[in-house]
Amino acid sequence: MIYKHGVLVVGAGLAGMRAAIEAHNQGVDVAIVSKVYPVRSHSNAAQGGINAALGEGDTWESHGYDTVKGSDYLGDQDAIEILAREAPAAVLELEHWGVNFSRDEAGHLGTRNFGGASQARTFFVADITGQALLQVMFEQLVRVGVRMYNEWFVTSLIEDGGVVRGIVGMDIRSGQLHAIQADAVVLATGGMGRVFEPSTNALINTGDGMAIAYRAGARLMDMEMMQYHPTTLKGSGALLTEGARGEGAYLLNSEGDRFMKTYAPNKLELASRDVVSRAEQTEINEGRGIDNCVLLDCRHLGKDLIMRKLGQIHELALELAGVDIVERPVPVRPGFHYPMGGIKTDVDGKTTLEGLYAAGECACVSIHGGNRLGANSLLDTVIFGRRAGAAASARSRTAGSGAAEGSRLAEVALQQETDRLRALLDRPYVGELAAKVRWDMGVNMVKYCGVFRDEAGLTEMGNLLHSLEDRATRVHVGDKGRVFNTNLTSVLELQFMLDLARAVQLTALTRTESRGAHTRTDYPERDDEHWLRHIQLQYASEGPEIHYTPVTITRWEPQVRSY
Ligand code: FUM
Repeated sequence: MIYKHGVLVVGAGLAGMRAAIEAHNQGVDVAIVSKVYPVRSHSNAAQGGINAALGEGDTWESHGYDTVKGSDYLGDQDAIEILAREAPAAVLELEHWGVNFSRDEAGHLGTRNFGGASQARTFFVADITGQALLQVMFEQLVRVGVRMYNEWFVTSLIEDGGVVRGIVGMDIRSGQLHAIQADAVVLATGGMGRVFEPSTNALINTGDGMAIAYRAGARLMDMEMMQYHPTTLKGSGALLTEGARGEGAYLLNSEGDRFMKTYAPNKLELASRDVVSRAEQTEINEGRGIDNCVLLDCRHLGKDLIMRKLGQIHELALELAGVDIVERPVPVRPGFHYPMGGIKTDVDGKTTLEGLYAAGECACVSIHGGNRLGANSLLDTVIFGRRAGAAASARSRTAGSGAAEGSRLAEVALQQETDRLRALLDRPYVGELAAKVRWDMGVNMVKYCGVFRDEAGLTEMGNLLHSLEDRATRVHVGDKGRVFNTNLTSVLELQFMLDLARAVQLTALTRTESRGAHTRTDYPERDDEHWLRHIQLQYASEGPEIHYTPVTITRWEPQVRSY
């Protein structure tokens, strides 16, 4: 089948749903296509909160400065100004839609401290903030009646001469491929956490949107900037919210020492994530860890506070690690969490391809630069989701008919994808399985593109990727059925992830300095003279092209960064 809409949003997490609601409000025919049922989107997993300078004495300038400093001056300040200025209205809108934010003793919206912030400006719903926001956003989506194509796997964009005209996707329930034409496509497909093993991310986070945009010709930016969250659970890598430290939990090494006083004497455990992750990894590397971990100690917070405000992480630690955080410190370590990089967009979500927009974790505006502050990601989704929805609607309203040409292109793309998937299904079994290639990629990405990197390791990863890319051309799809063929989708996801792994490895090797989350042990200093600039990648069949663009500085000149 070939369907047609004015605006098509790919992804039904917070950014995608917010974009779709905005397009609906603008009177445009909008639909959402999503790999999972919307309330299963990974926005669900965000725990700690959402930032806004709403409190007495707080200002958007203070939020903006903290974000710029957090980004290690790589964030574009025009975009950060928008983020900080629009935050209060965005959070109040969510509250008015029905988000039951936690309140303080006086009954006002409560805030908690979060890393890298000079004030407590994180609004929260216990430690299930993402889940609370997602449910409310979904209610709004249902209320306005946006058309949803749920459990569809998007395999490619329909692109012609630098203009995006829709998508080709598979209805996973039937295995049938379809095309959806659109005047504007908004990618809101979330993160790429599964390029790394372990990761805080859901299994669905395979970077699909970033990869299909990149293959279609859109640029990726800041891909070397990958965030390792300081408190991920030993073994599974599950997230234990920064909100725990915001409420007062400590980090301890094997000697019982609160080691953050050495690395960040002012902010201690509430320094920015890159600083805390480096500190933990240094403690572990220098022999003061415990089984490759440090300890997160929540005991002094008391059972009442833990159960009221940190109930989910209490449950996670108990179920996944057998540790009751009321009684015992829990082993944690830096774990892959979030890409600061992604599809390069302007502040209205516009990518380098006409008709293609992106928002949320798959996009790089760039507000997070070298290091994202905790609780700025939920904010990013609603603010830039709304802006992308508005810009895509404006394009749809002014788009010419072009219907005949659009439908010819859709038919051609649909046939190409049908042939490509058929060829995948017909591959013989020669011993390669997607799961094995993916695992080898993930553990080596953490090993070589981890908290600390150097030229030798990144070069080794580059060589490993050649071999993984080669193996991926031979992976077998054992399931020949049509219905819910997750074996087939896992092979498509592997191809996406390998493109992104290559982008990370190449840009990390290229940036010969240390900034934010990108720590090169062979280039330990930040080097503003040469590297106060973004690295962009453009796909080319003979290998990615590298481009450099300046960082936008509006009011905050780069300074030495300490916490
Ligand atoms: O620690 C956390 O709750 C994570 C929040 C975030 O990534 O913004």
